[in-house]
Amino acid sequence: MKKLFFICLILCNQIVLCQTNQVVSKDISQIQPAAKGDFTLGNREFLLNGKPFLIRAAELHYPRIPKEYWDQRIKACKAMGMNTICIYLFWNYHEQQQDKFDFAGDKDIAQFVKLIQANGMYCIVRPGPYVCAEWDMGGLPWWLLKKDNIQLRTLSNPFFMVRATKFLNEAGKQLSPLQIQNGGPILMAQVENEYGAFGNNSEYMEAMRKNLRNAGFDKVQLMRCDWGTNFDSYKTAPDVAITLNFGAGSNIDKQFGRFKEQNPTAPLMCSEYWTGWFDKFGLVHETRSINSFIGSLKDMMDKKISFSLYMAHGGTNFGQWGGANSGPYTAMVSSYDYDAPIGEQGNITDKFYAVRDLLKNYLNLGETLGEIPAAIPVMSIPKIQFAQSAALFQNLPQGKKSLDIQSMEMFDQGWGRINYRTNLTASEKPRKLIVTEVHDWAQVYIDGKLIGVFDRDKTSNTIEIPATKNNAVLDILVEGMGRVNYGKDILDKKGITEKVELKDDSGAITLKNWTVYNFPIDYAFQLNKKYITNKPSGPAWYKAKFTLNKTDDTYLDVSTWGKGMVWVNGHAIGRYWKIGPQQTLYMPGVWLKKGENEIVVLDLEKPKEAAVTGVTKPVLDKNSSDVSLLSRKPGQELKLTGETAITQGTFDATEVWKEVNFQQPTVGRYFCFEALNAQNSKDTNATVAEIELIGKDGKAIPSKKWKLVYADSEEITVSNNVGALVFDKQESTMWQTQLVGKKSKYPHQIVIDLGQDEEIKGLRYLPRTDGGKTGIVKDYKVYLKTKPFAF
Ligand code: GLA
Ligand code: CA
Repeated sequence: MKKLFFICLILCNQIVLCQTNQVVSKDISQIQPAAKGDFTLGNREFLLNGKPFLIRAAELHYPRIPKEYWDQRIKACKAMGMNTICIYLFWNYHEQQQDKFDFAGDKDIAQFVKLIQANGMYCIVRPGPYVCAEWDMGGLPWWLLKKDNIQLRTLSNPFFMVRATKFLNEAGKQLSPLQIQNGGPILMAQVENEYGAFGNNSEYMEAMRKNLRNAGFDKVQLMRCDWGTNFDSYKTAPDVAITLNFGAGSNIDKQFGRFKEQNPTAPLMCSEYWTGWFDKFGLVHETRSINSFIGSLKDMMDKKISFSLYMAHGGTNFGQWGGANSGPYTAMVSSYDYDAPIGEQGNITDKFYAVRDLLKNYLNLGETLGEIPAAIPVMSIPKIQFAQSAALFQNLPQGKKSLDIQSMEMFDQGWGRINYRTNLTASEKPRKLIVTEVHDWAQVYIDGKLIGVFDRDKTSNTIEIPATKNNAVLDILVEGMGRVNYGKDILDKKGITEKVELKDDSGAITLKNWTVYNFPIDYAFQLNKKYITNKPSGPAWYKAKFTLNKTDDTYLDVSTWGKGMVWVNGHAIGRYWKIGPQQTLYMPGVWLKKGENEIVVLDLEKPKEAAVTGVTKPVLDKNSSDVSLLSRKPGQELKLTGETAITQGTFDATEVWKEVNFQQPTVGRYFCFEALNAQNSKDTNATVAEIELIGKDGKAIPSKKWKLVYADSEEITVSNNVGALVFDKQESTMWQTQLVGKKSKYPHQIVIDLGQDEEIKGLRYLPRTDGGKTGIVKDYKVYLKTKPFAF
């Protein structure tokens, strides 16, 4: 058996297809190292054992896939035409409590990498320690936030550096033997992740590079990834190959333009070619068309540019693992389908066939496409009714006393919900409750009665509370959602982060003497409640049993529920929120049982119906109809007559950042960008990828507090092109005016509230970079005022 298997492996290394399905899943620990090899940088090409090698990589994330399906997903990638699997390592997944490292079972990264090798593929590892990836805190562990004065991704914080190094060392112990030079499949290891979008301290990157080397990634080729616009904002040692990330439809020559000039002999690689995009609660479902995506991929193949598809298969943010974006705060939904070629359930999509059909024309001599693995069957489950429930406020855990309010982390809780309780003095008049800051969503109760809701960055942080008797009980029940995973705001504590004030005519006092109740997410905690038969009207756990005679995959329809989390047979399946766009949760069949199964739901609101059905198709694109996704109110019209533009001009047609200096620095809080016409005078639509405003120090002012006040038109039907995408700090996303239905005409305007007066010297503007040719702005005007615009 062993011998047979070894022969098969050698064949695989020569990229002859081998069907090892059963063998792989049983005998993986027995795999013998393949012949030792070498992977280096040549002149404009990568060299595998001295021969030119074009990387066709597929990004997969092992924690987003049940372990039992790892092999199916890898095989699907191979069948799509890939020769390499690219993975991140997720520090906070492996060290959930400080110093308790876990690389076993579904966290066994060495096993995952061996499985890649057993499938005759190579591997690129991206150990972080920061990874972004729409993952809680970009992969950094929550317990870092317990440390006073913690700072992240910086040399100047010794605690961060020591802990990050420790994680890399642990990761190295797992994967060092699997470097290609030691007979494993690992071709490259990445230092940090898109550091250029965060900082420019070359010493920090040098420290991380050394850490990675010392951790046991000592022989393998190193790399780092950035954007075509910022890769040169810091320097790395010569053993680190520079690769670039960009989105579907990008113009390849432009993306690599500056890089090629500066690095005439370096191999070219797009280390993340974004196949789709991620979804956030309350926003429009993201898709990227096959057309926009496939053209640039072909271009890369023709130009012999290595690539990695991010994501080849996105998978699922199970449990609490989804992250969030900030400015404004929006949390990731549970599905990480990503509109990727291989769907969330491992299903083969049209995008998959488009890639496979393309890549089959570019195979090397003797290379064949892998066979498409069998589909994992999907089933429906009849309606499961929840007869039992446990009201949250009747099931409070032991409280903890705390003089001052503190974040969730300070009570040793990583994820979940937390209730802060204190008593109020009597008042005949209503008072104001001011909470700084709610992370991320909270309900306020007085004597058990719900009086309001805070939604981070979306509602005001102040609510009026009615007259109270002495010792009235104030409860603030806060749900922590994903930690910000991108940009400057990744230091994102949960619960209430600073203070709670009570304000009346005589002034504000800070509330003290709290009793704090923690609701962590572990399954035992959800079960340990007094479940009874009733219909609670507020936050509650619901429990039900259901019987199955088969265990295929399914999607749990949670559309009748409010906001919360689901567990099945102890597995945290994910978060849901009625606002959408996701209305079903992917339920892997391997976590179901023949016979009796158990499902628990924690809902913070009141479900319309306490029931869940298993359906055969996911619903990822249904937003709640009571919330408008548009920033323009019906009939609203921006009035610019009488306003004076502080500058106006004409943009050229190139696809690069452009800088405009105002005649003189101007102070204002309300900013309006008005597009007067497009480069192609026939176009009626306008598009803008990014706008940055430059402060007096010459740097972009922070956009954390910015709010989109108005956009005359936004496309949300065929794609997500809302106005706020001009300040999401993502070059591949854009505002676009409506394309279908009622199209509007030029001029087009967006108005942004900067949150406070700012002194502004000029602006930077980036046109669309997705390959679309229409709606590229030509003539424009800019307004900046201290008073709001009139409508
Ligand atoms: C960047 C990051 C990835 C991911 C993508 C967007 O490229 O490096 O981790 O966040 O953006 O999906
Ligand atoms: Ca953008």
